[in-house]
Amino acid sequence: MHYGIKCALAGQFKFFAGTYNPRPLTNVPDKNCLQSGCHDKRLVESKVIFTKRGINFDHKPHFTEMKKGIKLHCRSCHSDIVQGEHVKVSLNVCFLCHFKGVPHDQAVTGCPSCHSSPKQPIVVKGKTFSHEEVMKAGYKCNQCHVEITKGDGVTPKEKCYFCHVERTEAYNDIKFIHEKHVNEKQIDCLWCHPKIEHGKIKVVEKVPVLK
Ligand code: HEC
Ligand code: HEC
Ligand code: HEC
Ligand code: HEC
Ligand code: HEC
Ligand code: HEC
Repeated sequence: MHYGIKCALAGQFKFFAGTYNPRPLTNVPDKNCLQSGCHDKRLVESKVIFTKRGINFDHKPHFTEMKKGIKLHCRSCHSDIVQGEHVKVSLNVCFLCHFKGVPHDQAVTGCPSCHSSPKQPIVVKGKTFSHEEVMKAGYKCNQCHVEITKGDGVTPKEKCYFCHVERTEAYNDIKFIHEKHVNEKQIDCLWCHPKIEHGKIKVVEKVPVLK
């Protein structure tokens, strides 16, 4: 059976079931996103402060350099760039690159790469707690934040069969797989990868220094 046909049918089914991106196979060339009247290239060369944690996000290195051998498209992060809320960003895409393949108390690029610990004291179990103080005392984030991620993001092989009945032996050739699907076809990361969640997944029971 021609896998293109299987893919189209399966894709439609999942679309109506509401569980998948309805447009996995449409190609939106990046130049469409950058034409005048749509987006000025300068915008994409600027830094943006992102999320309430104040992440200093820079498009340029992410977009112009190959990160982890993956050439990103506008749509890799802005999955709805052609309509509606098109600058809405999927954090799941960030988390795949920044947390995949390391233990649940670490980040590939380290913690301060996106955000540091809160500057202001916070209230924990009715008591005031200052990150500034414990960091000065030499603590590491993972002495308290013992789990900051959930899920390993590893692609189950069955995901390939969703669209293909053959060529799945290429599963192990990561570079080729990303080239074919992400670079050439702009297929969403989450068609293959399960989500990695990130946040206060697990904090130590007895927080040191909590007065
Ligand atoms: C690695 C992920 C990523 C890629 C790839 C990416 N963006 Fe973004 N983009 C972001 C993030 C994060 C923001 C900040 C969103 C927010 O503040 O909610 C953003 C914001 C924007 C904004 C709003 C800028 C502003 O100053 O408010 C525009 C316009 C934009 N992106 C266009 C693009 C275009 C066009 C491309 C492709 C050339 C692209 N982006 C590729 C992550 C990405
Ligand atoms: C394709 C993989 C990939 C994706 C997707 C990705 N990043 Fe990154 N990012 C990296 C790598 C690798 C580095 C650091 C090493 C380097 O500079 O090459 C990095 C660096 C960073 C840095 C530090 C930059 C600096 O100046 O030191 C921030 C902040 C960041 N990323 C935030 C984000 C956010 C937010 C998203 C989602 C909107 C995102 N990244 C998506 C791979 C990725
Ligand atoms: C790719 C960027 C990135 C990296 C790297 C990163 N974080 Fe985060 N972190 C986020 C984002 C985004 C949020 C969600 C908060 C938001 O929406 O503003 C978050 C949330 C959190 C929260 C929960 C905050 C809350 O209000 O519930 C904790 C705790 C946290 N991060 C700790 C860490 C630790 C510890 C590290 C290093 C191991 C780390 N983070 C590395 C991006 C990152
Ligand atoms: C000595 C223990 C300890 C250390 C070390 C520590 N934290 Fe925390 N952190 C906590 C506790 C406790 C909380 C509150 C957890 C809760 O709300 O259940 C917290 C909360 C947070 C939050 C959420 C703040 C909010 O507004 O709710 C972020 C973000 C965070 N930590 C980041 C970090 C980062 C990044 C590091 C390392 C640079 C770090 N923490 C080091 C104990 C620690
Ligand atoms: C969302 C659907 C989708 C998923 C999931 C998917 N693929 Fe693909 N794949 C495609 C499309 C579309 C193409 C491009 C086909 C074309 O150009 O005719 C492609 C191309 C390929 C090719 C290149 C075929 C050629 O002859 O050039 C290989 C090999 C491949 N996929 C293997 C895989 C593997 C392995 C997985 C699982 C890790 C996978 N695919 C998951 C849709 C998918
Ligand atoms: C067609 C399926 C497919 C798509 C789409 C896809 N990946 Fe992957 N990716 C894989 C496979 C297969 C592997 C190897 C098995 C694993 O670790 O999941 C992999 C591995 C990875 C790794 C680990 C790389 C390493 O060197 O260890 C990262 C990080 C990653 N992918 C990020 C992404 C991001 C970010 C996107 C979207 C921009 C994406 N992937 C889209 C199939 C895919």
